Amino acid sequence: MKKVKVLFVCLGNICRSPTAEGVFRHLVQQEGHSDWITTDSAGTHAYHIGEQPDRRAQQTARTRGIDLSDLRGRQAITSDFHEFDYILAMDEDNYQDLQGLCPRGLENKLNLFLDFSDDYSETQVPDPYYGGEQGFEHVFDMVESASRGLLDKIIRKYK
Ligand code: 4NP
Repeated sequence: MKKVKVLFVCLGNICRSPTAEGVFRHLVQQEGHSDWITTDSAGTHAYHIGEQPDRRAQQTARTRGIDLSDLRGRQAITSDFHEFDYILAMDEDNYQDLQGLCPRGLENKLNLFLDFSDDYSETQVPDPYYGGEQGFEHVFDMVESASRGLLDKIIRKYK
């Protein structure tokens, strides 16, 4: 079976994309697909390289049964477009920054993550960094919905 590699990308790689990685990874494990679907996350900027996810992101995820403590920040690089099958941007800024990194011909790998959700008409997962805890709950809900949609799509396409 083909291995499918999924990369979640936001600005800092400490709030939205690690939450997405943790939620999607959990779903993949729960449904028995870890042998052929793998995950990672990255940031478009270098501010938080090597750091654990934001304390508020970890807390929100923990209360919903998801552990993010093993994840560490890194920056997205051009070779990610060769390595991964899906590159999922959280918002339009991330999408545009990733377009700048993307080698010609691989643009079809790049998508807005929330486009995979059936529950939200918005297309962007908003940056919760400067807001309160509620922003992190909202991000988690969005990410959970988009993860479901993405996994269903991958299974339909490859399995
Ligand atoms: P993220 O949130 O992109 O969801 O990880 C942010 C994290 C850090 C910063 C901005 C957004 N920052 O400016 O350091």
